[in-house]
Amino acid sequence: MEERDFEYQGPQVTPGSGSVRWSAPSNIALVKYWGKHGVQLPANPSLSFTLEACATRTELYYYPKKQTGTQPEVEVFLDGLSAPGFVPKVRQFLERARPYMPWLDQFGFRLETSNSFPHSSGIASSASGMAALALCLVELERRFYPQMPEALFRRKASFLARLGSGSAARSIDGGLVLWGEHPSINGSSDLYAIPYPGEVHAVFQEYHDTILLVDEGEKAVSSTVGHGLMHGHPYAASRFAQAGGNLERLQDILAAGDLDGFIEVVESEALSLHAMMLASTPSYILMKPGTLSIIEAIRDFRARTGNPVCFTLDAGANVHVLYPAASAGEVYPFIREVLTAYCKDGHHICDRVGTGARTFGTP
Ligand code: PMV
Repeated sequence: MEERDFEYQGPQVTPGSGSVRWSAPSNIALVKYWGKHGVQLPANPSLSFTLEACATRTELYYYPKKQTGTQPEVEVFLDGLSAPGFVPKVRQFLERARPYMPWLDQFGFRLETSNSFPHSSGIASSASGMAALALCLVELERRFYPQMPEALFRRKASFLARLGSGSAARSIDGGLVLWGEHPSINGSSDLYAIPYPGEVHAVFQEYHDTILLVDEGEKAVSSTVGHGLMHGHPYAASRFAQAGGNLERLQDILAAGDLDGFIEVVESEALSLHAMMLASTPSYILMKPGTLSIIEAIRDFRARTGNPVCFTLDAGANVHVLYPAASAGEVYPFIREVLTAYCKDGHHICDRVGTGARTFGTP
């Protein structure tokens, strides 16, 4: 699909009031997106596991706009409390969505949102938050345009989520999700994410992600700034090529159930992401001493016991520990007894690969 396919196709809209609800999960990238151009277009393709427990629930109340003008009318409540700090980001998102949803100008919005994970946990809420908001908007659009095909619904949600936060494009569908064009994957696009269409061995269908909360504070350098530092970065071109190559390799690994290959690629991706930060100008370090201690302990445990456990990192200090569900009996006790010692107050989140975004009943 092309950009113009996301323009509104339905009848003229008469504004009314009501609310729509969606819950969207977080995701963890196996092949990382780091570097962008245009309006949130990725410099390289990325692949992620959709999570299950870490999610954002949003109820979007809409009403006929009270003020005139094109400035979006928005209020945001986080966990029941007014959160004006989020308004500029939501406004910017609505501005970006407007060319594809011209009816937005007729409405005012109140967003009531909550995360299943603590806001201060250092877990990126932008992916799940933007995905939930995008789904609410497409749900509202469906009220005006009920004939919207189901395939367009999910694509448009991913397309819009991308405009809010790149990795949010991957928080609509479940399982393995691919965002960004790759020559060997049919249907892949820079505009939106798709469910990974390749063959996936059973071992990768039930995967655990235990998230170790090493640092629960605000990140020293935001992702937006980090992406920006990839412009003119001395290793940018080779990093983008590396990501494409790793995705190519992963296709065979996923199909064959090759756990050793998976571990090699996933850990290399995590460290390459942080290597870009170390080599940026100005340089910066988001890992903490605890991050490195956990990495060493995982590698040591793997070498000693043969368990197929590995780590990956987001743009932060927290560590995602990945392992097949079948290994949980041996791996989780190790995590609890050894690795959580490096977390603040032992904080960690037990998550797993999930099925994607959904609507929900009473919030
Ligand atoms: O979606 P953003 O702009 O917050 O970028 C996130 C990038 C990483 O989380 C570091 C990697 C990824 O692919 O999710």
